[in-house]
Amino acid sequence: MKREKYAKQGPAERLPKAGAIMLALLILFAVLLGGREGTVAAVDAAAVDAAAVDAAAADAAAAEAVDTACIALTFDDGPYPKVTEHILDVLEKHSVSATFFVLGSRVAGREALLLRMEEMGCEIGNHTFSHADLTKLSREQIEKEIADTNAEFERVLGHGAAVVRPPYGYYNESVRNVIAYPLILWTVDTNDWRPRNADELASAVVKEAQAGSVILMHDQQESTAAAMDAIIPALLARGFRFVTVSELLTIKGEACSAIKIPEGG
Ligand code: NI
Repeated sequence: MKREKYAKQGPAERLPKAGAIMLALLILFAVLLGGREGTVAAVDAAAVDAAAVDAAAADAAAAEAVDTACIALTFDDGPYPKVTEHILDVLEKHSVSATFFVLGSRVAGREALLLRMEEMGCEIGNHTFSHADLTKLSREQIEKEIADTNAEFERVLGHGAAVVRPPYGYYNESVRNVIAYPLILWTVDTNDWRPRNADELASAVVKEAQAGSVILMHDQQESTAAAMDAIIPALLARGFRFVTVSELLTIKGEACSAIKIPEGG
């Protein structure tokens, strides 16, 4: 209504007919006087606009490329002094980060490893206290598995974990209802906990990795640590960027099939 009223009282409406004709003639005259220069200026303005549009499109494409080229390396069930340390050495050498899904029961005596992970920009996720199948536990038992582990993280790091990986990837409705954190599964299972040759493991991971992949590994076997030295440079060469699972969550959220956001959260 307001807009309509405004339009009715607009200057064009109030301008007498003769005045309008004079104005039109003046505009025509100015355009003719401007001649070629005016045309060039108009073309230049259009070119600038087109360039701006192209730049914006390129920016959007670049942002999309950065987002979609992310990969999250994850290591479960540790820390194990020798293997975890070796993996951290390799990550540090290439200046990349990863996520460690740590068991609460394995924190005592390995505090320095957790501190080093955090210092390096790695994420520490909650993998329960005792590696329990959460689908077989009561609500109270599930809460205790998560809370006891976060208490250990709190003791060492001063804060709990932001993400949980249920052992074996087992979860159901009640597990999802009880755990108030995103459940992080995986998109690539390396089966690296079985005795494996480092070269075979490296070529399998490099072949299977895709934009947005969450790669499941374990910091238990030396073959995994050795494979990292081939996996990271090969994936960097393919243009991938290594992110933690919380970073991936921010970028992709529910678009990543491996991430289960809590109900109502
Ligand atoms: Ni596990």
